[in-house]
Amino acid sequence: MVLNMGKKILVTGGTGYIGSHTAVALRQKGHECVIIDNLSNSSAVIPDMIGKITGERPFFEKLDMCDAGKLRHFFQTNRDIEGVIHFAALKAVGESVGFPLKYYRNNLVSLINLLDSMQEFNIPHLVFSSSCTVYGQPDQLPVDESAPVKKAESPYGNTKQISEEIISETACSSALRAISLRYFNPIGAHESGLIGELPLGVPNNLVPFITQTAIGKLPKLRVFGSDYDTPDGTPVRDYIDVNDLAEAHVVAVERLFQGGNEGPYEVFNLGTGKGYTVLETIKTFIEVTGVDFNYEIVGRRPGDVEKVWADTRLANLKLGWRAAKELGEMLVTAWRWEKNLDAGILEKS
Ligand code: NAD
Ligand code: WQD
Repeated sequence: MVLNMGKKILVTGGTGYIGSHTAVALRQKGHECVIIDNLSNSSAVIPDMIGKITGERPFFEKLDMCDAGKLRHFFQTNRDIEGVIHFAALKAVGESVGFPLKYYRNNLVSLINLLDSMQEFNIPHLVFSSSCTVYGQPDQLPVDESAPVKKAESPYGNTKQISEEIISETACSSALRAISLRYFNPIGAHESGLIGELPLGVPNNLVPFITQTAIGKLPKLRVFGSDYDTPDGTPVRDYIDVNDLAEAHVVAVERLFQGGNEGPYEVFNLGTGKGYTVLETIKTFIEVTGVDFNYEIVGRRPGDVEKVWADTRLANLKLGWRAAKELGEMLVTAWRWEKNLDAGILEKS
């Protein structure tokens, strides 16, 4: 049931993977969601898909946030926005190593433009997409929010560290109240099979690589390294369902609206607290879908951390949020989405 007490919330990057699921979750909690996105890594049909799931197509404007004038004009003509969830960013780690300026310009200029406009139009509430990548290989596991931020392995990772600093310093010197959410490894898709991850070209991340290999788009999955100090020698990650992640954004922005935040800037880990190896993830996929595929163990991928999983106690306690979905459930929805993509769901819409 949709309640009337909802707020109007801007979701930047809202046609993207996590943004689209968050748009659904916001609507289902009674908020009005407006989306801006330059469609550099997403499809223009996503607002329709969100509409099919929620019964209401969100307002969408194609807009590059690096264009300060256009962004300002957007806020000028949308005066009743009360909070922003900022997903818009480039996120391909490998590409960022080859094109650092592209990443620094896109991810940092868009953030600075956003903060300028939020100040000018007196919008004090911001939730920001950060990443467990800021921890590098943590000294202690599970890793909590007080762990040191390690030197970034990539320009992409560095944009997250710098963005957190920009937001924290701005919050401490202005009316801005902000929460950075450090995601572990988001996977899965909406249970409807209407929205999910849309990797451009050959995917970098494990689960889209698994599903694309299983469907036959890619010939073989390469497992990067089996000589790590982990139960089966392959790296351990904390895979979190994208719908659980989306719920956490709703809770975080509502915390700001209610003034429940403790200080101008807060940081929370978003993970399940459980780690799985690459081989465990592959085996679980085969088990829950019944679909086998080719994989081979090859050498390590440069820059990969050995093992990381979240200490989720802060988010559990302060946000009252807890990830609910198990790995198998996440892989089932990821597979359903891959099959729908293969059947041309985006082209047919
Ligand atoms: P995504 O690429 O699916 O979504 C990001 C969206 O931002 C895309 O739709 C893209 O078109 C848009 N965008 C990029 N630059 C823009 C600009 N200048 N102006 C307007 N729109 C722009 O990525 P995602 O997986 O949904 O990630 C969302 C956020 O979460 C990103 O900030 C990402 O760095 C962060 N994050 C993602 C992961 C992950 O594994 N997916 C993990 C940790 C953090
Ligand atoms: C997971 C595991 C790979 C692909 C990335 C970003 C990080 C953050 C989270 C945004 C690793 C292995 C993968 C393949 C494989 N994102 N793998 N074969 O490395 O934890 O981090 O996503 O902020 O910044 O770097 O995720 O999905 O790429 O890899 O063996 O073809 O799967 O080596 O052990 P990762 P991932």
